[in-house]
Amino acid sequence: MILAFKNAYHGDTFGAMSVSGRGIWTEPFSEKLFDVIFIDTPNAENIEAIKSQIKEVATKVACFIYEPLVQGASGMLMHEAEYLDQLMSCCRAYHILMIQDEIFVGFGRTGKLFAANHLTEVPDIMCFSKGLTGGTLPLGVTTCTDRIYQAFYADDLNKTLFHGHSFTASPLACTAALASLDLLLQTSIQQQIANIVHQHQHFVVSIQDHPKVKVIRQCGTILALEWNTNEETSYFSDIHEKLYPYFLEKGILLRPLGNIIYLVPPYCISTDDLNYIYDTIRQALIELF
Ligand SMILES: Cc1ncc(COP(=O)(O)O)c(C=O)c1O
Repeated sequence: MILAFKNAYHGDTFGAMSVSGRGIWTEPFSEKLFDVIFIDTPNAENIEAIKSQIKEVATKVACFIYEPLVQGASGMLMHEAEYLDQLMSCCRAYHILMIQDEIFVGFGRTGKLFAANHLTEVPDIMCFSKGLTGGTLPLGVTTCTDRIYQAFYADDLNKTLFHGHSFTASPLACTAALASLDLLLQTSIQQQIANIVHQHQHFVVSIQDHPKVKVIRQCGTILALEWNTNEETSYFSDIHEKLYPYFLEKGILLRPLGNIIYLVPPYCISTDDLNYIYDTIRQALIELF
């Protein structure tokens, strides 16, 4: 069996859908999906209960797959590194392999190079994409520890893992990834990331008590604001139908997840442009609903 977080999103292929939170998106394929044990994301209150739950099922669990610190597609839901670390230690103790999906959070999004840099525990496998090429060309990479690599390695052709894709290791995409990494590691870009984190922090403090702000949360360069609709926060909240064109008309491409407005700015954004976005959100809070 595989352990995964409730509300997870890992992609749209059958395996990825199986380990993602079940709902309207996966419903048409539900018969084809394999069984997964879903656990809550950890916090101070539930961490001991989650550990007990893992202990009970540990002998039948092969691995745990998770989005570290931020569950992106499900609404930028955040959990603290401290409790994820505890959960990972628990998995390690029961020899449960850990697959850390950094596809959304990798390459600076959380304010550090990887979410892994917030953690002391180390996963066995990691998944990367999106920021790998700075979004310029499609490329994904899976990395693993030497122990996993050796388990797959053989000189015997019959034992080859005969799976690949047309564009596996595309030289052009790999070149773009290397160029993007060179840029990302430049001091000026690291400073840009730090600036975005700092600006977000100021915005959070300035807006968090607004009556139309249900919750505002931040992890590094990721900011999410739940608009208070007097209903449960939901991807299907129809207020996004007004929010989306409102921002577009003002030259800002925001894509609210239901009543959740979120910002994941490109690192090249200027201070003025970011301030313009904050001001427009403030204005929306005055003018809408
Ligand atoms: C955390 C996470 N994992 C996996 C994926 C899916 O990646 P891909 O579309 O490359 O399969 C996404 C895409 O949004 C994601 O955010």
